[in-house]
Amino acid sequence: MTLIPGETAIKIWNDSEELECVSVLPEVPNVMTFCFQAPSRAIFDYQPGQFLTLEIPVPGGPLYRTYTISSSPSRPMSITVTVKAQPESIGTRWMFDNLKPGMRIKAIGPTGSFTNANYPAEKYLFISAGSGITPMMSMTTHMYDLGRDCDIVFVNCARRPSEIIFRERLEHMASRVHGIDLKWVVEGADKYEPWTGYQGFFNQLMLGLMAPDYLEREVFCCGPEPFMTAVREALAGLGFDMDHYHQESFSAPIEEVRDIPEDELPEEGATAEIEFSGSGVTQKCAETDTVLAVARQAGLNIPSGCTFGVCGTCKIKKVSGEVHMVHNGGITEDDIAEGYILACCSNPRGHVIVDA
Ligand code: FES
Repeated sequence: MTLIPGETAIKIWNDSEELECVSVLPEVPNVMTFCFQAPSRAIFDYQPGQFLTLEIPVPGGPLYRTYTISSSPSRPMSITVTVKAQPESIGTRWMFDNLKPGMRIKAIGPTGSFTNANYPAEKYLFISAGSGITPMMSMTTHMYDLGRDCDIVFVNCARRPSEIIFRERLEHMASRVHGIDLKWVVEGADKYEPWTGYQGFFNQLMLGLMAPDYLEREVFCCGPEPFMTAVREALAGLGFDMDHYHQESFSAPIEEVRDIPEDELPEEGATAEIEFSGSGVTQKCAETDTVLAVARQAGLNIPSGCTFGVCGTCKIKKVSGEVHMVHNGGITEDDIAEGYILACCSNPRGHVIVDA
């Protein structure tokens, strides 16, 4: 715990405390930034590029939605998410219509491994589309605030210039340091506003013009899946070493064929039993079932979001027994060492007791 002379101890926020919404700021059409503080005035400690999962209290039961943090840990008194309301979105629409300053909301996290902190490099290339700009904003603000020399080519693709999120704030940062080079790509100009920048869809030719030294850069990409596929293919086609390519995705990862030792695989046909100690329920199941699925069969509600081991919403404590867990970054090694598991991607082995 750190002490400021004459002050009380600084507390780091953790997700056992709700967040208080302190402001709601419109960014561009259909995009809002929600700013939160901890009611206890604890500060926020996370890696730029990580995300939070919000418990959104829609009628009929909460929804869990994962949003990248758009603020920077270098400004730790508050934390923001910047979200776009898609026409079909229920959770985000609820936030637009109902979440107001003074309201409190439960959040889970911060978590996620899409952060340049894990990949220190001399030069970065950030490529995003639409609201995929949020982790890039956090990482860029963080490097800007640290005051060290940085070298970032920052590419964002939007439908129109008026839909580029954070444009003014980024241009302000770029005007004060040499190392932030902004490249906007739009599908079309705004009415009555001339546009002299890049127009069309991101392609290999643009990449060569924007960052001629792209082969030397650590690349981070975030946006809709087809956009990230196009960027990946463009880079791979140009001979880029894909070990230096990182992308954020909140959709299910493509199944990879991994070498899992035989004795770690859940056995087809083998039975198991899960005791949910918090509810006093015991349920028989197969070793191939997930703890989350078994809880649902038993009529228990373990909060969940992504259901494939990314968001960390379904984290619960394992009291005893063994599980086989294959997650996608939604739990830390420290949590695992303390006995936590992700219910959505853990298969029971024999008799398991969990605190749920
Ligand atoms: S529901 Fe997202 S990690 Fe389990």
